[in-house]
Amino acid sequence: MKKTIEEHADRFSAIATDYDETQDSEAYRACANLVVEHAAPTEEDVVLDIGTGTGAIALALAPNAKRVVGRDISEGMLERAREKAAEAGIENVEFGEGRFRDPNYDGEVDIVTTNFAMHHLSDEEKREAIAVIADLNPRRFVLGDVMFFGTPDPEEPFYSPEVDDPATVGTLADALTDEGFVLTAVERVHDQVGVLVAERFGEAGDRVPVEE
Ligand SMILES: C[S@@+](CC[C@H](N)C(=O)[O-])C[C@H]1O[C@@H](n2cnc3c(N)ncnc32)[C@H](O)[C@@H]1O
Repeated sequence: MKKTIEEHADRFSAIATDYDETQDSEAYRACANLVVEHAAPTEEDVVLDIGTGTGAIALALAPNAKRVVGRDISEGMLERAREKAAEAGIENVEFGEGRFRDPNYDGEVDIVTTNFAMHHLSDEEKREAIAVIADLNPRRFVLGDVMFFGTPDPEEPFYSPEVDDPATVGTLADALTDEGFVLTAVERVHDQVGVLVAERFGEAGDRVPVEE
């Protein structure tokens, strides 16, 4: 049976101290690096990182962004993220409770990122989350995650059916384009890991946020 949000939060809080050391796979690193690279904020951009965990993406983006807001359901992971920000002297980042379908943030957002987190949601929940993200009106959404390029295979890394619920790339692409995003990059890191870059263009094709 799929885990509840509370069970996921408890599971991650229990491993928060050692989480960073256990993320040693090449695919995780490549995926995180691609999310950072594609997010590419400028010093005027506010970034919202959902499922921020211990802040891998948020803390990597903060030096180039105006501000980064990290949201997660696990207080243990958030606490570790705050400690890392303090250790690194990064002050333009704020970590707090928030979830994909209710990020607990209603300020301006230029870029939304997420890495290795959305696969905990069912496909229907991912669709709802993408609609919530679209409503925040970012110009770019960078989605790095466990996703299926081929046939799902629990024998392969990154996919444990008892805790994970990854979507196919096609399902994610449909959900993004249905919300008015254009897919501007698809990066296959592994047959079960990838990065999708979704952007919203103005009517004339220029890169301006779409007004609701
Ligand atoms: C594998 S970790 C990834 C953390 C970080 N993004 C990284 O790249 O290292 C997944 C994170 O997603 C969070 N998470 C799971 N379900 C979530 C939800 N519905 N909303 C927000 N965060 C969620 C977990 O608490 C956990 O911190």
